[in-house]
Amino acid sequence: MSSERRPARPDRNLALELVRVTEAAALAAARMVGRGDKEGADQAAVDAMRNVLDGVSMDGVVVIGEGEKDEAPMLYNGEQIGDGTPPQVDIAVDPLEGTRLTALGMPSALAVIALAERGSMFDPGPCVYMEKIAGGPEIADLLDLDRPLPETLALVAERKGIDIRDVMVVMLDRERHHEAMAAVREAGARVRLILDGDVSAAMLSVSENSAVDLLWGIGGTPEGVISAAAIKCIGGQLLGRLWPRSEEERTAAVHAGYDLSKVLTCDDLVAGEDVFFSATGVTDGDVLQGVRYEGARGATTESLVMRSRSGTVRRVFARHDRSKLRALTGVRYG
Ligand code: FBP
Repeated sequence: MSSERRPARPDRNLALELVRVTEAAALAAARMVGRGDKEGADQAAVDAMRNVLDGVSMDGVVVIGEGEKDEAPMLYNGEQIGDGTPPQVDIAVDPLEGTRLTALGMPSALAVIALAERGSMFDPGPCVYMEKIAGGPEIADLLDLDRPLPETLALVAERKGIDIRDVMVVMLDRERHHEAMAAVREAGARVRLILDGDVSAAMLSVSENSAVDLLWGIGGTPEGVISAAAIKCIGGQLLGRLWPRSEEERTAAVHAGYDLSKVLTCDDLVAGEDVFFSATGVTDGDVLQGVRYEGARGATTESLVMRSRSGTVRRVFARHDRSKLRALTGVRYG
């Protein structure tokens, strides 16, 4: 075979290293499930994630992190991660997506990380929330943040060849969504309300054979960027538009150069072509099984490990020995 015709050799898939990072965060957070302490759960996930992330060879900078340096001593926005060797990457972390879900022992809490080429992740600056709409590849071209939701639901039903009464929209249970909830129900469709966790919901909305057709609503901007990274790997689309909470936030965003009318696609939110993503379940959910304990020492985890360039989606089921991990790392894994 001539050298021109030889297929390119597969390079390093960072997602396979990232799965250890989200497993560690999930195992640490799982100890706190149902204990009513969301800050404690988040801190346990952050500490464990940081501990494993330090061992990944890369030149990373946190673009979506735990907030400003002073308030978040670890995994803060702008923090350099890794040993400085290539590749140069942007990092988005949510060590515990669903702090309240974890504290209350409720479904669908995740530990999540995404990586993409340096400079390719959208930095939300002062914008805490964005409007979002997401759905699978079959309806990606129908997504629209300006068209009235009932009209979009009718188009989705028609495209999928189903009755509008079978269309399911997943939404965060928030007062700001009450009008839209009523409109969805009036149109004949159904609403699945979630207490928290719209990254998991966005992943569900684009998954095959999902019980959910569409994600809609206003949620966190960091979660929007992380969801976009996942959707670039799974397929489908998410559209977002920044949604300032107050006049001050609007002014700050405009001064910082953000266009508040722009509809952002997954490619705007994560422009990179080589996106690595890993999520591990903390509590059981539709997308991932949570951490399960086996006897005094064992625990199992389930993770989704993906890369956009190859389109490979792996489900990684792992069995852990908590006492050995603790002896090796000093971190309590349950
Ligand atoms: P935390 O895990 O940080 O608590 O976030 C959970 C979450 O529900 C996200 O999934 C969602 O995007 C955001 O909070 C919604 O924000 P709010 O609770 O302020 O409506």
